[in-house]
Amino acid sequence: MIRTLLYGAGRMARRVLAQMPEFGNYELVGWISRIPPDEIRDIDWYPSLDDFDGEADLLIDFTLPGGTHTAAQWCEQKAVAMLSGTTGLLDEDIQALKSAALQVPVLWAPNLSFGVAVMAALVRQTAAALDASSVVTITDIHHKHKIDAPSGTALSLAMAVEQGRSEWQHGEPGDVAFSSVREGDIVGEHTVSFVSGDEVIEITHKALDGKVFARGALKAGEWLLEQGPGYYSSGDWS
Ligand SMILES: NC(=O)c1ccc[n+]([C@@H]2O[C@H](COP(=O)([O-])OP(=O)(O)OC[C@H]3O[C@@H](n4cnc5c(N)ncnc54)[C@H](OP(=O)(O)O)[C@@H]3O)[C@@H](O)[C@H]2O)c1
Repeated sequence: MIRTLLYGAGRMARRVLAQMPEFGNYELVGWISRIPPDEIRDIDWYPSLDDFDGEADLLIDFTLPGGTHTAAQWCEQKAVAMLSGTTGLLDEDIQALKSAALQVPVLWAPNLSFGVAVMAALVRQTAAALDASSVVTITDIHHKHKIDAPSGTALSLAMAVEQGRSEWQHGEPGDVAFSSVREGDIVGEHTVSFVSGDEVIEITHKALDGKVFARGALKAGEWLLEQGPGYYSSGDWS
């Protein structure tokens, strides 16, 4: 069994909690959140990581950047593997994750759905095939509670464009522009649009239910525990 600590009690952490039984090999040894969640029942709840005094193999973090930083330092000290899906991280948060990764396996991915991993491969391939001067626009549409913009996924898709362009360069690279919309309850939609001469190619992914990220996180957690210390992301496990 994977003795797991769940860090955060927002929408994503609750989805992970709901999906855990489907996997069968996760044992929740503690739920860490600043405010006790309503649905604690038979779950051991702790107000902070420092209050947890048990044994854990894996910490799953779906908080906000300050939380990720604290979790990375704790995992480094306690030699616990860490999986984080938190977005909007600052450089110093990434540095904390990389420092932990010298001691334990750490996976951080701004989008844990399988479909987005497939999309990133298509985007790379398209950017490699087209003239580098094509203009790329990445649009992300999310629910009104999402704080960071552009989304972490939009930024990682921009990296896929750059990787594709560097594989096959024709001319000077064109712009990559971002557009973010925050409205309603939309789980997450990303479109990468390539405009080249009189042609437009659009690649779109829509997450219809936040369950896809939670399932992806739990699948990634299984993979992560088979790895040695290191800093991993979506492309490594999907
Ligand atoms: N990687 C993916 O596939 C994926 C998919 C969807 C979302 N996300 C990202 O996952 C993160 C969480 O999303 P969400 O929708 O669950 O957010 P949310 O509903 O706002 O929940 C955030 C949780 O983080 C806690 N928190 C905030 N700051 C903290 C801190 N400094 N220390 C400890 N806990 C802290 C909050 O606790 P309090 O209530 O005490 O403030 C709350 O429990 C976001 O960054 C989101 O963009 C990633």
